[in-house]
Amino acid sequence: MTYVVTENCIKCKFMDCVEVCPVDCFYEGENMLVIHPDECIDCGVCEPECPAEAILPDTEDGVEKMMEVNREYAEKWPNITQKGEQPEDAEEWQGKPNKFADHFSPEPGNS
Ligand code: SF4
Ligand code: F3S
Repeated sequence: MTYVVTENCIKCKFMDCVEVCPVDCFYEGENMLVIHPDECIDCGVCEPECPAEAILPDTEDGVEKMMEVNREYAEKWPNITQKGEQPEDAEEWQGKPNKFADHFSPEPGNS
């Protein structure tokens, strides 16, 4: 089992999650983070920290696609261990539909 960052992270990118991860397994894209599934120790402490409720266990229905996104981009994006500045309009993006289809960016973040 692992935890997965799902599409509601996109353009919210609050980054409270990185501060609590004991194994530093978050990786930063331009407008979202992902979890490296082989590094996550399933402790679950990041899940309640996310204001966007974007982090789910991989046992939840419907996370398969984002699981693959987490796996792929954890290999491509830089590791992030400290909370940076969240997007100014982060609150406005909470819960918006179709974020992955409309707003996913494969570009790396600037950690
Ligand atoms: Fe890190 Fe634990 Fe969250 Fe996995 S479940 S990403 S180890 S804080
Ligand atoms: Fe994203 Fe939530 Fe972390 S919005 S950056 S998963 S705190």
